[in-house]
Amino acid sequence: MRSIFGKILLWFTGMLVLAVVSFFAVSVLVAPRRTDDRFAGTIALQLDGARLAYEWGGRAELAAFFGRMARQFPGQAYLCDGKGRDLLTGDDRSSLLASAHVPGTHPRGDAPLILTRASEDGRYRIVVVPQPRPDMLTPLPYYAWIPIAIGILCYVLALHLAAPARKLRAIVDRFGRGDLAVRAGFTQKDEFGDLARAFDLMAERIERLVEEQRRLLQDVSHELRSPLTRLGYAIALARTSEDREQGLARIEKDVGRLANLVSGLLEATRGDGERLADTRDVPLDVLVREVADDCRMEADARSCRVALGPMNPVSVRGAGELLRRAVENVLRNAIAHAPAGTTVDVSVQAAAGMAAVSVRDLGPGVPEDQLEAIFRPFFRVEGHRARDAGGVGLGLAIAQRAVVLHQGRISARNAHPGLEVRIDLPA
Ligand SMILES: Nc1ncnc2c1ncn2[C@@H]1O[C@H](COP(=O)(O)OP(=O)(O)O)[C@@H](O)[C@H]1O
Ligand SMILES: [Mg+2]
Repeated sequence: MRSIFGKILLWFTGMLVLAVVSFFAVSVLVAPRRTDDRFAGTIALQLDGARLAYEWGGRAELAAFFGRMARQFPGQAYLCDGKGRDLLTGDDRSSLLASAHVPGTHPRGDAPLILTRASEDGRYRIVVVPQPRPDMLTPLPYYAWIPIAIGILCYVLALHLAAPARKLRAIVDRFGRGDLAVRAGFTQKDEFGDLARAFDLMAERIERLVEEQRRLLQDVSHELRSPLTRLGYAIALARTSEDREQGLARIEKDVGRLANLVSGLLEATRGDGERLADTRDVPLDVLVREVADDCRMEADARSCRVALGPMNPVSVRGAGELLRRAVENVLRNAIAHAPAGTTVDVSVQAAAGMAAVSVRDLGPGVPEDQLEAIFRPFFRVEGHRARDAGGVGLGLAIAQRAVVLHQGRISARNAHPGLEVRIDLPA
């Protein structure tokens, strides 16, 4: 059975048939055949009455008694002596007596109901054969309608239960054919709802991933285009102009830029799943101090200062060179955006198994809605572009990759004035 719908239908119908059959079996075969204990009282009275009638008025009175009795209890009744001889007709009733039952016992199979009772002194026995109740089996044809009615209900139920599976399948199909924006959007709380929500989450992630890749590809092409165009001009110039050296120098510069771009791109987008190869304990405070020293000259050139705040000694496990590049990119950004005469504050703090590097400048900051975007490759805040002419927008992407490889987190927030970039790493 390949469809859930068919399975449900089959099981429900099976259970239904079983229930109906058991009900029949119990109600038709067992219950009516069990003689009621109340027969015992009635039959004792009948025996007493018949005996009294017989002893007082002989056969005539006995016949009259049975006649009266038959009006109350339709069926046959016989009074016999101890040996089973019918006291009314003289017939031998011993075979009937042999197949009779004492009230309260279970007759076996489909034997007719025959009840008997003996007097206490053993001189009389009464045999009663009640007329079978003619209405005993009449409800049976109506029972047949129950499975039909419930079968229809089961069919509707099965349709209803299988519907979400079918709907989900159609949605997965559409997604598979490239409609990445499609979502199930189920609100139900059952397993199908859970499955649909899991699918929606997955679709969300895949769509975002594909979108990111597409944007990256666009950005890369865009970034490559201008140096390539310039190269084309420079080559044309080198061919025609007198001063070949100047043309070649330009070509060299652009080739260098392209090489930088490509290696930066490689560094920023290398598979995120990859693990750090050889790790060792890196003293973070020492590393940050070194980076700050290295950047002093650059800061001087922009007439600002790098000031060290609290420098808690703390070590992180990882690759020193990657971490150094991360901190350097963040610090150089801060210096690049710091107005002349201001300081850039750098600190290293350790708490609760985490180390945090903070770099804060007093520059223009970043618009709130772009605080996450600045970590994307090639993203540059509009207006910052001209000032930070050298950068292509890969610095923070490289830093983020390095931090994520160390199971850390990098984030930026506006400190009004300026920007604070924080790197959190497990110590
Ligand atoms: N300290 C900062 N203050 C203001 N803007 C910043 C700062 N750091 C980074 N940004 C913004 O984030 C963008 C991305 O930074 P980054 O990835 O280092 O690229 P790049 O420095 O090459 O432009 C920058 O172009 C700049 O607009
Ligand atoms: Mg930068």
